[in-house]
Amino acid sequence: MVFVENGHRLSVYRDHGGYKSLQKAVGMAPADVIEEVKASALRGRGGAGFPTGMKWSFVPKDSPKAKYVVCNADESEPGSFKDRYLMERDPHALIEGMTIAGWALGSNTGYVYGRGEYRYLLDIMDVAIAEAREAGMLGKNIFGSGFDYDLHTHTGAGAYICGEETALLSSLEGYRGHPRMKPPFPAVEGLYASPTVVNNVETFTSVPQIIEMGGIAWRDLGTEKSGGTKLWSISGHVKKPGVYELPMGYADMEKFIMEDCGGMLRDDKKLKAVIPGGSSVYVMNAGQIIGQNVTLDYEGLVAAGSSLGTGGMIVMDETVDIVESTKNLSEFYKHESCGWCTPCREGTDWLVKIFDRITSGGGRPEDVQLMLDIADNIEGKSFCPLGDAAAWPVQSAIKQFPDDFKKWIVNGAASNGHVVEANM
Ligand SMILES: Cc1cc2nc3c(=O)[nH]c(=O)nc-3n(C[C@H](O)[C@H](O)[C@H](O)COP(=O)(O)O)c2cc1C
Repeated sequence: MVFVENGHRLSVYRDHGGYKSLQKAVGMAPADVIEEVKASALRGRGGAGFPTGMKWSFVPKDSPKAKYVVCNADESEPGSFKDRYLMERDPHALIEGMTIAGWALGSNTGYVYGRGEYRYLLDIMDVAIAEAREAGMLGKNIFGSGFDYDLHTHTGAGAYICGEETALLSSLEGYRGHPRMKPPFPAVEGLYASPTVVNNVETFTSVPQIIEMGGIAWRDLGTEKSGGTKLWSISGHVKKPGVYELPMGYADMEKFIMEDCGGMLRDDKKLKAVIPGGSSVYVMNAGQIIGQNVTLDYEGLVAAGSSLGTGGMIVMDETVDIVESTKNLSEFYKHESCGWCTPCREGTDWLVKIFDRITSGGGRPEDVQLMLDIADNIEGKSFCPLGDAAAWPVQSAIKQFPDDFKKWIVNGAASNGHVVEANM
């Protein structure tokens, strides 16, 4: 992606080739546009990594209903801030990508749904949409093709669950943001029970490049299975936090943190832990990264014991207490659980209660197993994947950092006058 000064302005975007991909796409058959996206091996950048071209091909071509294109700009994942960067600096790339999707899918209407805290970004989007409409890139008969397409923005009230695609659609329809049963998947029955494609901001902004370069050429920027490039939001104890674009398959994770991002913020502190994909993935310890040649792509991170998620990388040095950092995340998931299903509503609350007990000095050796049991009863048993997201940080923190838990339990018990052997 090319970020240029004042790239949010239509004139600047067009000076750098903007909207040429849309012009090219409306000269292609819609099915051929989908084929290019399939060939690109683009996987959704919202966290789950579902192949985008395949998702688009699930939309029924012969449905008499209106079809919708929805951009998930909720970006509530702790550690993730790349979508914010894209909408701030490159809003026309998002508009262009969504409009190409509209052409490919036979849709005339798209929505950009952002979290409440992103109102200011949707104001930027509104200005860009108005500019595009004025210039004929949105609205009636785009590039003389007979294709009509328009976009609208909508803000939620700032709830993490509204990033889950079906809860997002409920919220967009004006209902409370509760997730819906799948199937039917949104591609078949989504917004207003009509075929709907929901994709992430980064996913849509990749589409103009794919059309410009051709699917295979774009794929080859990355690897065969993880095509293209990826934006990483990196925060925490590194000298140069920010948003970085890397080819998929970049080698390697240690080099990225220690060289590209400037290494540890405080030179005398060692790397302790990294959450590589936004908070909803397994936390890794330094031993899983240093000297391990972990490639930054979907396959590399799974092989290393975690996953790519949204690419929101949180780096922690040795001063971080993993019990406290994981408690912080558990409090987030408890607060954000929508309460719809019992395992998630009750389980996230119990996890926080046990963390509270441990960090207030009353932790018992059996609390660690109890937390694992609770996490196990949330994972895979909740109505939507928010439950898994709440379970994974706890499970991996206990697995990768047992000494941090032991320290709290032994010291806490000692301060309460008990003598314990913490078997973990
Ligand atoms: C609790 C929860 C929160 C989510 N939040 C977001 C989000 O903020 N942005 C996003 O793009 N996807 C989010 N997702 C993933 C979406 O459900 C969906 O997979 C995604 O928007 C699909 O787009 P993609 O295929 O382009 O990744 C979330 C999922 C869950 C379970």
